[in-house]
Amino acid sequence: MRNITLAILLLSLSVHLAAEQVDTEQLEEKSKQLAAQLGMQLKARLKAAIEAGGPASAISVCNVSAPRIAEELSKDGWSVGRISLKLRNPANRPDEWERATLLAFEQQLASGAAAVSLQRSMIESREDEIRYRFMKAIPIDGVCLACHGEQIAEPVQAALAEKYPRDEATGYRLGELRGAFTISKILDDRPD
Ligand code: HEC
Repeated sequence: MRNITLAILLLSLSVHLAAEQVDTEQLEEKSKQLAAQLGMQLKARLKAAIEAGGPASAISVCNVSAPRIAEELSKDGWSVGRISLKLRNPANRPDEWERATLLAFEQQLASGAAAVSLQRSMIESREDEIRYRFMKAIPIDGVCLACHGEQIAEPVQAALAEKYPRDEATGYRLGELRGAFTISKILDDRPD
């Protein structure tokens, strides 16, 4: 009986959604903008903090700014964040789809794809809501190495160990996949 109810629920959700004609092109465009905004704002904040006080002091900036910027960009049903397979902050753990997508990005990168081209989207139907989801790869560039690279200065290591005792996010090389921006938008949260 529960299965039947669920099937009817999902059917009514998808009919409802079809009637609204989801504009995936527009959703993708907005997702890319949000990912770019989060990336640029974080990089600007990081660079300024590193110039002002070095990478060890920039860690506390990143620790506070990253979730705050993501939260500021998450409005009107949108949600914006970052995830990785090797975590620094356990709050950034990927779910199943995100994990599979990160593994696919790694494979694509290994077979020669350009990191900037790596993105994926889908529409996820759940019991209580339908979401548009989008992911975009984050490669490691020069600025990242001070805190995610193979050779990390002693004061940076100490600051990281204090805030993130289970840090897995070091040992990266230039161009490797660090993680992804993960964006989603609720399309319909109440079937009628
Ligand atoms: C000053 C040190 C520092 C630099 C430089 C830095 N990061 Fe980070 N990174 C951090 C910290 C601290 C966190 C944890 C933030 C938090 O608590 O949300 C983090 C988290 C992340 C995450 C989220 C996943 C996770 O492991 O928690 C990604 C993705 C990421 N960084 C990518 C980058 C990229 C790409 C660059 C270069 C453009 C970069 N970082 C440069 C310190 C740094």
